[in-house]
Amino acid sequence: MALNNGFMRRDQTRTPYADALDRYAARDTLRLNVPGHNARADSMERLNAYFGHRILELDVTPLLPGLDAGEGNPLAEARELAAEAWGAARTWFLTNGASQANRIVALALTQFGDPTQHVLAQRSAHSSFIDGIILSGLSPRWILPTVDVHHGINHGVSPERFAEALKANPTARGAYIISPSYFGAVADVRGIAEMAHAHGIPLVVDGAWGTHFGFHPDVPENPLAQGADVLVSSTHKLGGSLTQSAMLHVADGPFADELIGIINRTFTLTQSTSNSSLLLASLDIARSFLATGADSIARAIQSGDELRARVRAHPKLSVLSDGFEASPDIAGHDPLHVSIDVSGLGRSGHEVRNLLMTEHNVETEIATDNCVVAIIGPGHPVDVSRFMAALDKLTLQSPSAAARDHLDLPAPGEAVLTPRDAYFSRSVVVDAAEAIGRVSADTLAAYPPGIPNVMPGERITEEIVRFLQHTTTQPGGYVRGALTPGADRFRVVD
Ligand SMILES: Cc1ncc(COP(=O)(O)O)c(C=O)c1O
Repeated sequence: MALNNGFMRRDQTRTPYADALDRYAARDTLRLNVPGHNARADSMERLNAYFGHRILELDVTPLLPGLDAGEGNPLAEARELAAEAWGAARTWFLTNGASQANRIVALALTQFGDPTQHVLAQRSAHSSFIDGIILSGLSPRWILPTVDVHHGINHGVSPERFAEALKANPTARGAYIISPSYFGAVADVRGIAEMAHAHGIPLVVDGAWGTHFGFHPDVPENPLAQGADVLVSSTHKLGGSLTQSAMLHVADGPFADELIGIINRTFTLTQSTSNSSLLLASLDIARSFLATGADSIARAIQSGDELRARVRAHPKLSVLSDGFEASPDIAGHDPLHVSIDVSGLGRSGHEVRNLLMTEHNVETEIATDNCVVAIIGPGHPVDVSRFMAALDKLTLQSPSAAARDHLDLPAPGEAVLTPRDAYFSRSVVVDAAEAIGRVSADTLAAYPPGIPNVMPGERITEEIVRFLQHTTTQPGGYVRGALTPGADRFRVVD
């Protein structure tokens, strides 16, 4: 497997932006500019007492000489180090999460290639990509991911499904998939990228959950090394930077020049003019950590292995990734995602996650009807015994979790308008019965499994209404985007 650091030439222990910020903060500066706290303890006493003075000192205005202004400045150098670490031609530092990266990508794809053609996209895309589609006017052709009907979760797109989508849309101008999934399932990015390139189109991978990929031989390969052209990276998730900091990378591939030019413009369209220096410095430090931190990542993997072994040995629990090979879209899994089927405890995953938080001070990432997902940060082995002891205390003798029906997803309704046209049309709110046959102005996704059942511009069918309403009656079931908890009112195009 190609490790990112196999081709690093620069000194990745360096953190030029974070160091320059540190030096800047240490200077005796009279600040007559923003941020308005002016790094003065006496002007913002509570803020200073709450965060400590160091945070105020490091929180500086943008465009400072020696920091982020001028040719070859430390911020530019930090971005170049990041580009090298991920094997990218170009990297952008973002301060509004991978959500910003997804909006940038949707806006960029709108300007790439023939504007009358569609973009192929995984239907279970994160809401930020759908928001980007609404903003950009992009016309998507959806590819359904594989669904694990037993656990009620969606995985990724299989190469077979991708090939079918290409065949049905031979003039598509770009493609967008997600890997890894929330549950750590990794798609066959190499196979899909080869098909996309054979068609002459770029492949974007939303790798929000796989920032650490490629930085240790026992984690999956970085999607850019597998042929992806654009990589969305939520660095704060498994890269350890501060919340809301993220990166977007473009590969040194066949579409690099065109994509870099377009993304530069769309980056400006979406980024604040006052980027947080704290977030930027955290990206610089997290990149250095990942690029030089194989030993820490190894300890985290070991911890994940230990947790998986304890779960396997437990009579009432099982590890989801142990069954991944049965799914045609899954080419691997991330060892730092530990997805656990907890239904044997007699409770739903949602209940287990809540009780872990409220009664044991143990936080897990997400829950579904029968699973919880534990995420192991790349720098830190977890206290496996504490987690297992907490799970043990949650075992019920008489199960409370009602058995869930098998998932039988309704087919999406006919797409009548683009998501943008529908979203910005005049709309009215009507009762469910009246909504049938009308065009939705909203996105509605039943959880589980979280694949949007209705996109703006699609016709609402009777089958979909029945499915959404049924979902709301199930334990832990809800409809994201619904106007009412029971999904009995819908916003439709007037
Ligand atoms: C697949 C995927 N992409 C993008 C995002 C958005 O990431 P962020 O929270 O960094 O904005 C998420 C968030 O959970 C996600 O799951």
